[in-house]
Amino acid sequence: MPDHHYITTSIYYVNDEPHIGHAHTTVLADVLARYRRLQGRHVFFLTGTDEHGQKVRDAAVENDTNPKTQADRMVVRFQDAWNNLNISHDDFIRTTERRHTRLVESILRSLWDKGDIYFGEYVGWYCVPDERFWTEKDLVDAKCPDCGRAVEKISEGNYFFRMSGYQKWLVDHLNDHAEFIQPTYRRNEVLGYLGRPLGDLCITRPVHRLDWGVRLPFDPNYVTYVWFDALINYLTAAGFRSDDRAFERLWPTATHLIGKDILITHSVFWLTMLKAIGIPPPKTIFAHGWWNVEGAKMSKSVGNVAKPLDLASVFGTDAFRYFLVREMAAGRDAEFSEELLRRRYESTLANDLGNLAHRLVHMITRYCDGAIPEGGTVGDQETELRDRYTQLVTKVFENIESFAFDEALRDVEEVVRELNRYVEWNAPWARFKHGDQEAVRRVLYHASEALRLVSVLISPVMPEKTRQLWESLGWTPSGDLSEELMWGRLRPGSEVIPGHPLFPKN
Ligand code: MSP
Repeated sequence: MPDHHYITTSIYYVNDEPHIGHAHTTVLADVLARYRRLQGRHVFFLTGTDEHGQKVRDAAVENDTNPKTQADRMVVRFQDAWNNLNISHDDFIRTTERRHTRLVESILRSLWDKGDIYFGEYVGWYCVPDERFWTEKDLVDAKCPDCGRAVEKISEGNYFFRMSGYQKWLVDHLNDHAEFIQPTYRRNEVLGYLGRPLGDLCITRPVHRLDWGVRLPFDPNYVTYVWFDALINYLTAAGFRSDDRAFERLWPTATHLIGKDILITHSVFWLTMLKAIGIPPPKTIFAHGWWNVEGAKMSKSVGNVAKPLDLASVFGTDAFRYFLVREMAAGRDAEFSEELLRRRYESTLANDLGNLAHRLVHMITRYCDGAIPEGGTVGDQETELRDRYTQLVTKVFENIESFAFDEALRDVEEVVRELNRYVEWNAPWARFKHGDQEAVRRVLYHASEALRLVSVLISPVMPEKTRQLWESLGWTPSGDLSEELMWGRLRPGSEVIPGHPLFPKN
């Protein structure tokens, strides 16, 4: 039976268009999925949209439409964006789909029957002009954080999830599973949050205040709080209560990729919900950092929301994917600017990688009649190249497993630079002039083979460019990684195809 892997992204609110933050979570998940598929594992990769709740309702009002139409319009933007970014998801879930709302209702019903949901009094602060409820800690100087006006203390009946009852269990689970939250230092943030007594979670909104959500099956005057609804998407798509065999196979392998801003909801709300439902925790939660645009936290109000589609079409999908993966150290924040993207494109991709590929194919065309030459006798330098490469394979897969995507790419870049030095130092053009054909063949074969291998290692990040590169080297992947990653699979005699540079400079 193949080794199964369930990979999810957070699901995105359809109140606005996709931006670089959404693209980041999705591209990371895609890269992880592709690495695992490359290793022959069976991956089920899920992404989707979070379509209920206040934000979406407010956006609909602003756009003079109803929430469902708002969601229908916006979901296409997300799907197009993922299409343009070459995202290879296996399922796309919308929380308004019946398969999902049915499960939310069914879970609410079981937790209600079990006594894990109860009716109580919710006390909060209401901003009358904004028609919004705020909690005590949302307030800024005791005023509405949104419009700055006075708020009224209001209490209303709502339903609560008995989250507090699972606090001790959750703390023990986190203490016993040091690797569960990645990067591991983020676990302390969650444990810090759990240092205070955990309250119960208010999981409803009365319909007279918000009518856009899943109705409670046992009280039609209430809709479900958007987070309680949204988190369940991970169960819906895995087949919980609809396809037991799929669920049993997938759930123990679940890896949630999220941004650091939603770590508490995923580790506290979600894990206690699962515990109450009777489902073990997922395997891992990986929280990535935040993209800052020219030092400012990205937000609509600052007006600096970079549109992934725009930049992906300027620099190309693969280069854009490479940038997103390479520039953010696991879990840390990163700086985004078009200038940084341009620099990465020109130095790493165009100069180091693209140029090397172009030159090799060009030299093989000129000096070896357009066919991959025989490698001939192996010297010290070639042995060293091969050893470096063997170490690289192990390191790249280790780094990917620990979500250090940027380090995996950094190591690859280092080897590409060494490869450039190897070609430069051996100067096949000069050797050709002096008639040392054996050296020309040796150098061009080994450099091309190393380049092919390196490109297999980065193919999950740049699937299209690497495919083009393989074509130009006259190589077709076998589909079996252990074979593809073996040194010497570039066959002498294969015809190279000279073409345009992989990363043209604009
Ligand atoms: N709908 C919720 C998630 C529910 S998951 C059951 C949500 N949606 S969101 O659209 O606001 O954001 C989704 C993701 O985008 C989060 O993982 C968040 O971290 C990520 N990003 C949004 N802006 C970001 C940056 N500026 N930088 C990096 N990622 C950020 O939250």
